[in-house]
Amino acid sequence: MIDLRKVDAIIEKWNADPDFVIEMMQDVQDEFRFIPKEALERISDRTEKPRGKLFHIATFYRAFSLEPRGEKEIQVCMGTACYVKGAPDILAALERELGISSGETTPDGKFTLTEVRCLGCCGIAPVITIGNKVIADVKPSQVSNLISSYCKS
Ligand code: FES
Repeated sequence: MIDLRKVDAIIEKWNADPDFVIEMMQDVQDEFRFIPKEALERISDRTEKPRGKLFHIATFYRAFSLEPRGEKEIQVCMGTACYVKGAPDILAALERELGISSGETTPDGKFTLTEVRCLGCCGIAPVITIGNKVIADVKPSQVSNLISSYCKS
């Protein structure tokens, strides 16, 4: 159960204006690291924006998640340049190291592992991101060290 007072404060920050539901959802996402169903319902009730519309927004934009996310997101680029330079092996190494599959979050809530299409820096492929850090020329053998260094940070 989430603290709906936090959701109410966010809605009030935007004056419960239905034109700002995306901003409200962004704030909810930042607060809880996902958009809980109760928060979506509260925004809908207070802005009179239909729930279906909010649900559509939440599923349409990659920035939003309806499932709890880890403190840090690890993105593995599976675009062509990264793919041919071994991205699938990096993904497999990360899945082994974290004990989760792509798309899942570790039980301790630290990491969410996702696959993305071209991150726009093919010249340094294969690339992964951890939080907002881009890591270039990644090798599967580095994965374990990378994870432990980010566990401490
Ligand atoms: S394909 Fe990975 S950065 Fe472009």
